[in-house]
Amino acid sequence: MYVIVTLSKLPQMSKVLREVTDELRRMFDSARSIVVLTGAGVSAESGVPTFRGGGGSEMWSWRGRPITELSSAELLATDPALVWEWFDYRRGLLKELTPNPGHFALAEWERRFESFALVTQNIDDLHRVAGSMNLFELHGNIWRARCLRCASTFEARETPLESAPACFVCGGASRPDVVLFGEMLPEGVFERAEEAASRADIFFVIGTSAVVYPAASLPILAKQTGAKIIEVNPEQTDISFLADVTVLGLAGEILPQFISGRAH
Ligand code: OAD
Repeated sequence: MYVIVTLSKLPQMSKVLREVTDELRRMFDSARSIVVLTGAGVSAESGVPTFRGGGGSEMWSWRGRPITELSSAELLATDPALVWEWFDYRRGLLKELTPNPGHFALAEWERRFESFALVTQNIDDLHRVAGSMNLFELHGNIWRARCLRCASTFEARETPLESAPACFVCGGASRPDVVLFGEMLPEGVFERAEEAASRADIFFVIGTSAVVYPAASLPILAKQTGAKIIEVNPEQTDISFLADVTVLGLAGEILPQFISGRAH
């Protein structure tokens, strides 16, 4: 079940950096298996608003309702049209946005490492647009819909919407193909992410406040199974205590530094 948990702040034991040092780049270069968890922060420099940050409170509300109510299984059950309106509003914010150097750096990392997986909580599709392929979308994708009758998923890019997209397999009513509060993650995707995390040499935690579970349990699992944890975020987070290295900075500036000046 998809829930928010705020851990009490534990002391940061890790190394805190403000740029990628040669030592950190050497550690990166020598990894055999890299797994990355991203959150809204990786898309911030593309213009996507984050949910939290700057003090940790929920920042988003729309028509006076918090996101936890708008993106909820309860609202879908009682007012599916309003859920579509909310996601259509968000699609309107996203439709002109493009990936930033952080997304492109991650796509480049995938080309350089034999074993690479990108696990994202983002539904904005920007990792795919940037070229990432081994991508686990834990919370779904805002540009897809799912049929409420036959469960087919299909691409639905029209925005603004005149009405909820009809399923093109059976004509049934649809819902956004995203995970709502109170719902389980899509079948199998989290298990595959866990499997990848448990084999990682380095596990990156990038642009996430790490308070939404089960996504935030992945770095804990990776740490338990021997990975080094590297966090990239302009602020310390609930998961910083676990990190071996925290690089304080913007994803779009820090991620390219891992490969800058390096040939394939
Ligand atoms: P949050 O909004 O909770 O956290 C965003 C994080 O990104 C914060 O820790 C910021 O400090 C950091 N940040 C901001 N700008 C950044 C930048 N340029 N580079 C790197 N980091 C930056 O977003 P998530 O952790 O992704 O689910 O939130 C998790 C889930 O909560 C989301 O998937 C969403 C929400 O409920 C759904 O709505 C389905």
